[in-house]
Amino acid sequence: MNRFGLLAVGLGFLAACSIAAAQEMHHHRMSGSELPQSGPTGDRRELVQLPAPMQDHMLANMRDHLATLSEVTGNLADGKLDAAAKLLEQRLGMSSLSLHDAAHMAPYMPQTMQDIGTSMHRAASRLAITIQDADVAPSVEAMAKVNRGLHEVTSACVACHASYRIR
Ligand code: HEC
Repeated sequence: MNRFGLLAVGLGFLAACSIAAAQEMHHHRMSGSELPQSGPTGDRRELVQLPAPMQDHMLANMRDHLATLSEVTGNLADGKLDAAAKLLEQRLGMSSLSLHDAAHMAPYMPQTMQDIGTSMHRAASRLAITIQDADVAPSVEAMAKVNRGLHEVTSACVACHASYRIR
C-alpha cells in the first residue's frame, strides 16, 4: 500500500468511526445539550413514521450503506481504486436508487429528508468519478480530493441522522 492509500484509509476509518460514534451515542442515550437525545423527553429528531416492512427495509438499506463505505475504504487501502469506484456507484451512487427502492420509500419521507438522501447519492456518484480520476492520475492532490469526497458522503449520513428517526 502506498502512502496515498494509507491516507485514504486513515481518513475513511475516521469517517466510519464518527458514524459508529453517532450510533453509540444514540444507544447509550447520552445527555448533553447539543447531542441528539433518545427517548420521549429530549429527542429533537423528527419521527418519520413508516409502515413496519418499510422500516425493516430502510434499516437494511442503511446497514448496506455502512457496509459499502467499509468495502470502499478497504479497496482504497488496497489500491483497488477501480473496484472502489464501481462498488460505490452501484451500491451508494445514483445507480443504486432502484436497488434501495428509493422511489417507493421517498413519498413517506419529508421533503428535506428526501433532499438529504438525494444529496448523499449524488455525493457518492461524484466520489466514484473522483476515485476513477485518482486511479488514472494518482497524486497526493488526487487522494486529497478522494478524502474530501468521502467526507461529503459521510456528512450527508450525519446530517440525516441528526434530524430524523423512524422509531
Ligand atoms: C435521508 C436520511 C438518511 C441518510 C442520508 C442516511 N441515513 Fe442512515 N439512518 C437514517 C434513519 C432515519 C435511521 C434510523 C434511525 C432510528 O430511528 O433509529 C438510520 C439508521 C442507520 C443505521 C442503523 C441501521 C440499523 O439496523 O439499526 C446505520 C448503520 C446507518 N443508518 C448508516 C448510514 C450511512 C453509513 C449513511 C451514509 C452513507 C446513512 N446511514 C445515510 C437515515 C439516513
